[in-house]
Amino acid sequence: MVAVEAISLTKAFGDFLAVRDLSFKVEEGSVFGLLGPNGAGKTTTLRMIYGVLRPTSGTARVMGVDVRENPLEVKRMMGVLPEDTGVYPRLTAEENLIYFGKLRGMEEGRLRRRVDKLLDILDLSEKRFVIADKLSRGQKQKLAFARAILDEPPVLLLDEPTLGVDVMSAREIRRMIGEYASSGRTVILSTHNMWEVERLCDRIAIISEGTLRYEGSREDLERLAGEKEFEDIFVRLVRGETVGKAV
Ligand SMILES: Nc1ncnc2c1ncn2[C@@H]1O[C@H](COP(=O)(O)OP(=O)(O)OP(=O)(O)O)[C@@H](O)[C@H]1O
Ligand SMILES: [Mg+2]
Repeated sequence: MVAVEAISLTKAFGDFLAVRDLSFKVEEGSVFGLLGPNGAGKTTTLRMIYGVLRPTSGTARVMGVDVRENPLEVKRMMGVLPEDTGVYPRLTAEENLIYFGKLRGMEEGRLRRRVDKLLDILDLSEKRFVIADKLSRGQKQKLAFARAILDEPPVLLLDEPTLGVDVMSAREIRRMIGEYASSGRTVILSTHNMWEVERLCDRIAIISEGTLRYEGSREDLERLAGEKEFEDIFVRLVRGETVGKAV
């Protein structure tokens, strides 16, 4: 089953086209990676999917629900890690999670267990009672990841989930993302980390200048790459050059 579908998503800011006619499908139980240079349109695409930015044209469907027609229902089905983390600076790490869990209608016992577990796994237990404003960049990022995954929604949208996160915690986050998809739920992430894409993503979309340059399985991309480094293939695709026969 298709969990998320982008249908000709287009976003213009004034006369600047940030995202151009972008379409892709993400299968349930998979990890889908959005890759592209700074300013490619990754964040703009994710923001249109989770309904905080209205597409100029086109739309997205999440579990069959159209985000333009039913934004609230779509939001309920998704956990989101936005580019700017969106943690509340005046609440403590724990309060950020509890507040969010209550908003999402989580049952008290389950909420407590999830908060304990996630703070522990992400090495944030020591910062439990520290206000988010006083957390480091990476700690805020981990807190935002914990919030996205807190009530285990069917779909996760993660904008550069391991950005600024130390090696141990990044490993943990990647492991959790992989596990999330294995359990039948769906993850879309944007990243600049090639290694992350190669190891974690079932399918990959490469975007530059708001345009989809490539979409396919990791295996297809590896085949295209042949003996070459994945990074070289990426650079050529971003430039709009053809690579092998499949593109
Ligand atoms: N609110 C806005 N108003 C005007 N232009 C915008 C706005 N948001 C994004 N843009 C422009 O749209 C383009 C795509 O931005 P976006 O944030 O989607 O890129 P990105 O692929 O996420 O980049 P990065 O890797 O740096 O996070 C950029 O050129 C950016 O300047
Ligand atoms: Mg971005």
